[in-house]
Amino acid sequence: MTAPELLVESPQRNRGTYREVELDLQVRKRERVAEGVVVLTLADPAGADLPEWTPGAHIDLMMTPTLIRQYSLCGDTSNSAEWKVGVLLDPASRGGSQFVHDKLHEGATVRVRGPRNHFPMVQAARYKFIAGGIGITPIYTMIAAAAATNADWQLLYGGRTRSSMAFLDVLEDHGDRVSVCPQDETGMLDLAAELSAPDEDTVVYCCGPEGLLSAVEQACTSWPTGSLHIERFAAKAFEPSVGGDSAFEVECQRSGVSVTVPPDKTIYEAVEEAGVDVLGSCMEGVCGTCECDVIEGEPDPRDSVLSEAERESGATIMICVSRSRSERLVLDL
Ligand code: FES
Repeated sequence: MTAPELLVESPQRNRGTYREVELDLQVRKRERVAEGVVVLTLADPAGADLPEWTPGAHIDLMMTPTLIRQYSLCGDTSNSAEWKVGVLLDPASRGGSQFVHDKLHEGATVRVRGPRNHFPMVQAARYKFIAGGIGITPIYTMIAAAAATNADWQLLYGGRTRSSMAFLDVLEDHGDRVSVCPQDETGMLDLAAELSAPDEDTVVYCCGPEGLLSAVEQACTSWPTGSLHIERFAAKAFEPSVGGDSAFEVECQRSGVSVTVPPDKTIYEAVEEAGVDVLGSCMEGVCGTCECDVIEGEPDPRDSVLSEAERESGATIMICVSRSRSERLVLDL
């Protein structure tokens, strides 16, 4: 039996305590659920239970030591025997989705790390879900959770063509709560109409390609702070800082190590070189693996994970991309 190696057990702000493990799982089932999209069912080879997870969580598939990609879990949260991930074969794949489609057939084994949740579902009277393409995977589980609690919800789901859109058979059972909008039939999603009336009892959850996320962010500018929850699969572009980056000091309080982070290095690189144990994965500020608590100082967040409110609080930092506005940062490392 694979013994799950506990990597993290930590209370995270707004995210409850989560338990992250690393283990080898077997592909029990592989289903083609739409054009270019497969759903893998992963289970422990010896049948051991997998850690709990909540809607919005993702796992890392560690296909090779350097090919690590994040995929949202999209199965039943109450089924501790298996995890499911949906993977779109991206024509611009940098190797991850290609590996999944070419190599992860039924019976194959893959190293998995997680689960981790940077897109948690908050309690609300009403949910407005907006999904583009494979962005349906975290939303699909959220819909099941909303439906189970009798919450009021609506889904606006866009895709290139109907045949490229996953889970339509199940989603269309929800009747007029779901608007399916294949671009070749109905054109682009009408976000202006959908988000024209800010409502303090409604939260908006959106996942999809960058163009959709930016458009939703734009359309929600008049909504109450905290209404919009977004998950990115790719790094958001940041304006380079005026005059370039400066060096700053980082004190790793738990390790008792202090380092200077020069302009051409990340905090992650500088502390790792100094011998501090750090976890990382995407190195682009997208996956949240390297998040750590800020004890003192003012971070300069450049990640695509934290919400506006979380950025302003400065309570945590993604050390693979973010820097410091103060001359010194004290981190819980
Ligand atoms: S390693 Fe992914 S956010 Fe830092």
